[in-house]
Amino acid sequence: MSDANVRLLQSDDLSVLIHLENLCFNASWSETQLQKQLNGERNIGFAYLINQKVSGFVIFSTLFDEAELLQIGIDPALQGQGLAGNLLTQAHRELQTRQITRILLEVRDSNRAAISLYHRLGYQQDGIRKGYYPAEQGAAGLGREDAVLMSCNL
Ligand SMILES: CC(C)(COP(=O)(O)OP(=O)(O)OC[C@H]1O[C@@H](n2cnc3c(N)ncnc32)[C@H](O)[C@@H]1OP(=O)(O)O)[C@@H](O)C(=O)NCCC(=O)NCCS
Repeated sequence: MSDANVRLLQSDDLSVLIHLENLCFNASWSETQLQKQLNGERNIGFAYLINQKVSGFVIFSTLFDEAELLQIGIDPALQGQGLAGNLLTQAHRELQTRQITRILLEVRDSNRAAISLYHRLGYQQDGIRKGYYPAEQGAAGLGREDAVLMSCNL
């Protein structure tokens, strides 16, 4: 891959992924789920390295010429500096070389940082899945939250 800061995730990245996942998400994937996502036959993940340290990651599941963005996270200490954009741009390029033409994702309606990032990277909103997520702890409302469905053509 052309960018020295981005490389493919490997199965021995599991412990650092668990650490990042816990830092980034309230309701995070369990170790077993992460292991499954990391080693899934159709999955491909990318690590973002700062000073040789994995500081962000993104994991996709692929099917034929489409990929679903399953999870993306940047170390909270480094958020707001455009790192996720760099990571996703590199990941898009690599997926293109693997004949992927379209990426789909779903994101919590309240996740403004992520939605803004996806728009900037050329994703468009395709629809809303009502009450798809359990509300996060401390959120107002009746206990469910909508998912925003987005996609982009590579
Ligand atoms: C979503 C996420 C990956 C974005 O990574 P990032 O490297 O911070 O991305 P950017 O620097 O491009 O910032 C994205 C937007 O969030 C805002 N933002 C991010 N961190 C911020 C912070 N700490 N304070 C204020 N704004 C912040 C940025 O200003 C930007 O908004 P803009 O597009 O309107 O300018 C990161 O916030 C994250 O890991 N979140 C937790 C995990 C998550 O929600 N993943 C997505 C769902 S799977």
